[in-house]
Amino acid sequence: CGLVGYVGHRDAAEVLLEGLHRLEYRGYDSTGLAVLSKGRLKTVKAAVRVAELRELVPDKLVGGIGIAHTRWATHGEPTDANAHPHLDPTGRISLVHNGIIENAEVLRAKLSAEGAEFTSETDTEVLAHLVARSSAQRLEDAVREALSEVEGTYGIVVLDTRFPQELVVARQGSPVVLGIGNDEMFIASDVAALVRYTQQVVYLDDGELATVRAGEYVTSRLDRSAVAKTPTTLAMSVEDYDRGGHETFLHKEIHEQPAALDRALRGRLDERFSTARLGGVGLDAREVRSIRRVKFLGSGSSYYAGQIGATLVEELARIPADAEPSSEFRYRNPVIDPDTLYIAVSQSGETADTLAAVAELKRKGGRLLGVVNVVGSAIARECGSGLFLHAGPEVSVAATKSFTNMAASFALLALHLGRVRDLSLADGRRLVDGLRRLPDQLGEILAAEEAIRAVAHKYADARHMFFVGRVRGYPVAREGAQKLKEISYIHAEAYQSAELKHGPLALINPEMPSVVVIPADETFGKNLATIEEIKARGGPVIAVTNTELPAGLADDVLFVPRNEVQLDPVLLGIPLQLFAHHIAEKLGRDIDRPRNLAKSLTVE
Ligand code: G6P
Repeated sequence: CGLVGYVGHRDAAEVLLEGLHRLEYRGYDSTGLAVLSKGRLKTVKAAVRVAELRELVPDKLVGGIGIAHTRWATHGEPTDANAHPHLDPTGRISLVHNGIIENAEVLRAKLSAEGAEFTSETDTEVLAHLVARSSAQRLEDAVREALSEVEGTYGIVVLDTRFPQELVVARQGSPVVLGIGNDEMFIASDVAALVRYTQQVVYLDDGELATVRAGEYVTSRLDRSAVAKTPTTLAMSVEDYDRGGHETFLHKEIHEQPAALDRALRGRLDERFSTARLGGVGLDAREVRSIRRVKFLGSGSSYYAGQIGATLVEELARIPADAEPSSEFRYRNPVIDPDTLYIAVSQSGETADTLAAVAELKRKGGRLLGVVNVVGSAIARECGSGLFLHAGPEVSVAATKSFTNMAASFALLALHLGRVRDLSLADGRRLVDGLRRLPDQLGEILAAEEAIRAVAHKYADARHMFFVGRVRGYPVAREGAQKLKEISYIHAEAYQSAELKHGPLALINPEMPSVVVIPADETFGKNLATIEEIKARGGPVIAVTNTELPAGLADDVLFVPRNEVQLDPVLLGIPLQLFAHHIAEKLGRDIDRPRNLAKSLTVE
C-alpha cells in the first residue's frame, strides 16, 4: 500500500493525486483521498485506479491540507467502503494506514459494545474510532493514546478538522518519510511520491511519531521522549520515476540493466588480489574462515536470487549454502547456528516476511548481512552490515534489474569469501575478468530484443508452460516462470530438469511448451537428454543457451553470450524477462501493475 499527505500552499488534491500516481506500484486495489476544504473534510474514495479517482475528484475540492492512500487489500475486499481514508463516526478524524492491526477484532468488539458503528471491514477504521475517542487536547496525544491500544504494524497519517494546520504521522513496521519543502511538507510511504517536490527528507523510525505543519515538523517517540531527526538529501531524481520513452517501467528497467550492473560492480573489483572489495560486509579473515554455512533468506524473486547466491557460495567459497523463503524460516522456529552466516535479501528492504526473519535472527543472535536495494530501508538498517545493490529505483512490480544485481552481488560475495578461503588466485582472476565482462554482454542480449519478441509472440497463446533447468540453471528457470506468471497470467511451473520425468512429463503435449535453460556447463549433456524427452512426447521446446545446440533439436533458441560457468546464470535469465514482457504485451496485460500484486508487501 502507499500513503501520501500534504500541508502547504499548493492545491493539496493535486499533490495527493500525483503522489498516488507515483505510488501506484505499491498497491492498486483501491484509492482515496481526503482534503480539508473550507473547513469541511471532503473524502473521495473508490475501488478504482488512480486515473479514475482523478475523474471523481470535483474541481471545487480546494484546500491546502489532505491525506491519500492506495491500497493492497488485506482485511476486507477491495470495495469503495473499504478504501482509505477512513473516518470516525462524527467525520472529524480522517486516517490512512499501511500495515495490519493484529488485535483489530478485539478492539472492534470493544468499541461495538460501547455503541460504535462501523462502515467498513477494515482494521483502519478501528484506529480512526480510537483516535476520535480520546479526550486528549492535542491530536498528537490522541494518536499516541490510540496507538497504545494497538498491536501490529502501521504507518499512518491522521487529519483532524479541529487542527486544520497539521497532520500527525506515526510509524511502526511500515515506512513513513517526510519531505521538507519551502513552507510546505510532504508525507509519503515511499520517496517516489515526493521526489519531484523536494530532495530533503526525514525517515521516521519504528516507534516514532511527528506533528507536521507547513513550516515545521516535530518528532518524538510514542513514549513521549523527544527525538531529533536530521534531514537527508535524496540521491535520486524525478527521472528515475518516469518511463523515459518506454512503454512500461518494466521495459525501461530491463534496458537499464547494463548500467545498473555496472554500478553494482564499480569500485568492488580488486585486480591486485583478484577478489571483491566489499567494505560493508565487515567480516575479517578469521570470521570468514569460521563460517560453516551460509543461508539466504528472501521472498519471491529475492528468494530465487538467493538460490543463485547459494550455488555461487558453495562453488566458489566451498561453504555449504542454501536459500529459503524468509516466511518459512521465521515460522518454523529455526535453530540459529552461530557458525552460519545469514543473508537477508530484499529489493525494497521492507518486505514484512523478510523483516520478521531478520528480527528473529537478531533476537537469537544470528550473524547477519543484508543485501538490499533501497538505502535507508528497514531491512538495511536492521542488518547494519551488508551490500547495497545500486540498481536504482525499481518501479515495475516485477523485479528485473534488482534481481540481476542480486545475482551479481552474490557473485562478488562468493568471490570475496572464496578468496579468503580456498579459491586460487588464478580462479579469482578468471572471475574478476568475467564479472567485468557482464555489463557489455548483458547489453548484447538486449540488442537482440527483436528476435526474442518474435519467439515470445509465437508462444503467447499457450495456457501453461514448463521452465526447467539444472543446478545453476534451476533458479534461472524459477525466476523465468515467475516473470511469466506475474505479468502475463499464463500458468508457468519451474522444475529441476530431471524431476520432469518423475511426474510432470505426463502433462507434456503439443500444447505445452517448455523453456529449457541449457548452459554450456557440465550439465549440458543431461539437459540435451531432457530436451529429447520433451520432444519425444510432442512438446515444443524453447532453449535458452550460450552454446550451439544440435540443429533442429529445439523449436526456438534464445542465445546469450558465454561467460565463466559460475557467472552464466546472471545472463541466462535476461532473455526470459523480455520473453515474458512481450507475451504480456501481446496479451494486452497491465505489465507494470499486474493484478493482485504489489511491489513491496509490508504485511505478512
Ligand atoms: C513482492 C513483489 C515481488 C518481490 C517480493 C520480494 O511479492 O511482488 O516482485 O520479489 O515482494 O520483495 P523484496 O522487496 O523483499 O525483494
